[in-house]
Amino acid sequence: MAVISLVSSKGGVGKTTSGVVLAGEFAAAGRNVVLIDADPNRPLEAWSRLRPLSSQLRIMVDDSAETVIDTIEEARAGADFVIVDLEGTATDRIGFAVARSDLVLIPLQQSVLDANEAAKSVKLIRQMWKVANREIPYRAFYSRVPPAIRERTARDIERQFNDASIPTLPVSLIDRAAYRALFSIGGTIHELETSDVSGLESARENAREFAQSVINTLRGGVA
Ligand SMILES: Nc1ncnc2c1ncn2[C@@H]1O[C@H](COP(=O)(O)OP(=O)(O)O)[C@@H](O)[C@H]1O
Ligand SMILES: [Mg+2]
Repeated sequence: MAVISLVSSKGGVGKTTSGVVLAGEFAAAGRNVVLIDADPNRPLEAWSRLRPLSSQLRIMVDDSAETVIDTIEEARAGADFVIVDLEGTATDRIGFAVARSDLVLIPLQQSVLDANEAAKSVKLIRQMWKVANREIPYRAFYSRVPPAIRERTARDIERQFNDASIPTLPVSLIDRAAYRALFSIGGTIHELETSDVSGLESARENAREFAQSVINTLRGGVA
């Protein structure tokens, strides 16, 4: 059982999308997944209404900082993976969710090389180490990476973040129409049809590699 939170100090970087992509991969592998919608805009709840979810996937809506820990613990009891989708502005709820996480993921857009944005989230996470009295693992990763510059991957990105001492995932989430389509069609990329969007196979391959890098990080333990 693993709790994964998606955190960033900015909106629109791909937290919700990455959360759904991860959930889709874990569910496709036969694991039970709870997605917690802890964003007041309730993007996951809206997504879940578009199309019936597979039996491996469940949504829980969380309302506030006061309830988020209980929501996470309730979800953890019945799932192999709990993925917490948070809002983009700093709130107490983000801190509480981080304190209960086994891994915190920080999406960043590569178009704005933004180690500073990540540094804000890292600061919050490390503050929560003291609250939780353990070293909560975290990784930054690039989301919405244009496919054309895909080659500029692991080593470049790692070098940039090494300078800022921020650990990164070795896989980026590519900008794909298939990922955008999830929020108009619903479901996961395993349920989309090739006639729905272009580049579906590439998106599936990317999603698989991305999820595998998250699994490897969870297995590896401490940040
Ligand atoms: N990998 C991706 N490929 C294509 N579009 C993406 C990708 N990640 C995010 N987007 C799009 O970017 C916008 C913001 O993404 P979202 O996941 O809602 O960000 P956040 O949850 O951080 O606010 C949405 O319109 C979404 O469809
Ligand atoms: Mg979101």
